[in-house]
Amino acid sequence: MIRLDKLVSAAGGVSRQEARKRILSGAVTVDGAVVTQIDFKIDEQRSAVAMSGSALTYRQYRYFMMDKPAGVLTATTDRDQRTVLDLLPEELRRLKLVPAGRLDKDTTGLLLLTNDGDYVHRVISPRHNVPKVYYAETDGMPNEADVRRFAEGVTLSDGTKCLPARLELLPDQAACRVTVREGKYHLVRRMLASCGTPVVTLRRLSIGSLHLDKMLKPGDFRELSDAEVQAVFLDGAPQN
Ligand code: URA
Repeated sequence: MIRLDKLVSAAGGVSRQEARKRILSGAVTVDGAVVTQIDFKIDEQRSAVAMSGSALTYRQYRYFMMDKPAGVLTATTDRDQRTVLDLLPEELRRLKLVPAGRLDKDTTGLLLLTNDGDYVHRVISPRHNVPKVYYAETDGMPNEADVRRFAEGVTLSDGTKCLPARLELLPDQAACRVTVREGKYHLVRRMLASCGTPVVTLRRLSIGSLHLDKMLKPGDFRELSDAEVQAVFLDGAPQN
């Protein structure tokens, strides 16, 4: 059960205050009858709610992908710097979305945002083994010996031991693809730096079987379909 003003606000994309105004003005119906009581309790699975004649569909959890641009923090708020949440319109900021995993300030590409805390946990926890694929441009070209080191698990300069990862060389390019299944701080940058080929640009291409939508421009976002929400847990990446 959910309060009518909460449902109207979330499903109608308006503030709680605006939702209350609309309810009091008689614009909202429940199963065809006008309801003006703002704390009226609704069974969101069964009742048909409409505002000004348009049906409102309430979903408790929402999932979005963003093509994160460079120069923006993966955080919900920051005193000084722009965050990925600042790129969303007001009606989506009200949903209390959080990033499911981090990208560094200068890393671009696929970032998930949701208000489903369990989902965030499943995406980032190494226990769930979700592969994340990155495209990196590097200063210098990684080589076959690096591919083997990645497959065995790189040991970083501070002694941190990484899980086995996949390094794919791209012929004749100072660039590569890296697949990791954990989320350590600056992981891909540190792994490639340890091969003597530091990252110049880094972009996340996929999480599980979910690929960044190529139609999105930097800073754009869109809601995921139910199948895409689950695709994150389907292993699209080859094992090492
Ligand atoms: N690894 C990094 O080094 N940076 C990211 O943003 C993600 C993975």
